[in-house]
Amino acid sequence: MEVIIAANANDAGVVVADLIERLLHDKPTAAIGLATGSSPLVVYAELIRRCAAGQLSFSEATAFILDEYLGLTTDHAATYREFLRRELTGRIDLEPERLLGPDTAAEDPRDACAAYEQRIASQGIDLQLLGVGTDGHIGFNEPTSSLSSRTRVKTLTRQTRTDNARFFDSLAQVPHHVVTQGIGTILDARRLVLIACGPSKAEAVARATEGPVSAMFPASALQLHERATIVIDEEAAALLQLADYHRDVYANRPEWQRRG
Ligand code: F6R
Repeated sequence: MEVIIAANANDAGVVVADLIERLLHDKPTAAIGLATGSSPLVVYAELIRRCAAGQLSFSEATAFILDEYLGLTTDHAATYREFLRRELTGRIDLEPERLLGPDTAAEDPRDACAAYEQRIASQGIDLQLLGVGTDGHIGFNEPTSSLSSRTRVKTLTRQTRTDNARFFDSLAQVPHHVVTQGIGTILDARRLVLIACGPSKAEAVARATEGPVSAMFPASALQLHERATIVIDEEAAALLQLADYHRDVYANRPEWQRRG
């Protein structure tokens, strides 16, 4: 895996925005998988800035939502669609109908999962942006999720509900059920980019990149992908045994690698 250690979270956001800008430059019709949560906000702020400056356009792009709560009304502020609209897609030139996600209003969410999985497969995701939970989850694939799993309904752990309670008025309001792209679905993306910053992510980053590949730590599945990039800040790199090696690799990367 490629591990890029930036000085701070804002610099990490710039590194990821550069990757997305390069992708859209090479392929304006690219499909980008979008995560929610706090980690990608530095990326989204940078993308919004570049779009406003005319440096970047999403006008031909498509975005796929990584995961979504079940049981919330579609206009609830905490839905991930609404979050992404607020934090990114409503502030760039992405066509609103090209922000795709599972149909959480479907009578049987399993049908919605199958339809969403099929929609993703029909186009393929060029770059999937990810964060990582303190328990190693990616998307809402909690520990013990099959590394081959597809888009499906999951039950959140107590830990994740507690972590996410900050987006609700109380813990009781956090839904128990979600739809998430599976780990197998995520691994099908052509490129994976995980961003994690701050001291609370140091252990998760070390386990994801240097620990064994295990369903007990879903983010470790990125080790199975041929093009996975982890962008972290110094605080999140604190427990990496190979931090110096990654700094050397990045500082000495050849010209052709700097371009892509
Ligand atoms: C969000 C998602 C989650 C988050 C993870 C980290 O769409 O899929 O896996 O990426 O919970 O959240 P933050 O970034 O808030 O620490």
